Amino acid sequence: MKFSKHEEIWLTISVGMLVLFMVIVGYQTFALGMGPPSNKETLDPQKVDQTAPFDNPGVFEVGPNEYEVVMVLQVFSFTPNNIEIPKGATVHFTMTSKDVVHGFQVAGTNLNAMVMPGYIQKITQKFDKPGEYLVLCNEYCGAGHQMMSTTITVK
Ligand code: CUA
Repeated sequence: MKFSKHEEIWLTISVGMLVLFMVIVGYQTFALGMGPPSNKETLDPQKVDQTAPFDNPGVFEVGPNEYEVVMVLQVFSFTPNNIEIPKGATVHFTMTSKDVVHGFQVAGTNLNAMVMPGYIQKITQKFDKPGEYLVLCNEYCGAGHQMMSTTITVK
């Protein structure tokens, strides 16, 4: 197969752009640490119940209208579940999974995280609007996946 001069030029430009974008994205991710929000902290997934802070999951006040939610995900539930927080609260979620990969998505917010066994996921969200927010697992995790949900009530 023989390319015409024009095809060669455009092929070179498009391949060059792909390589350039890959270099830029790679540089941002690894050199500037601008990869997707995730946490490099790890723990032994077999010992979640014995490892702080997950030995005591719950909602803890850590400042003026600021809370930490220590949460354990497992097939097919969230611990603690049906959380209540005051309006305007800033909530730091610290999460891990006891078994398989789960998702933590809060409908009506930008909160959407993957929670993997062996890793500690940390994500912060401010809840300004009162209401009942549906929390869903959005990673397929087994037969009860579609039942894995809870709520966050802001009032
Ligand atoms: Cu947990 Cu799907």
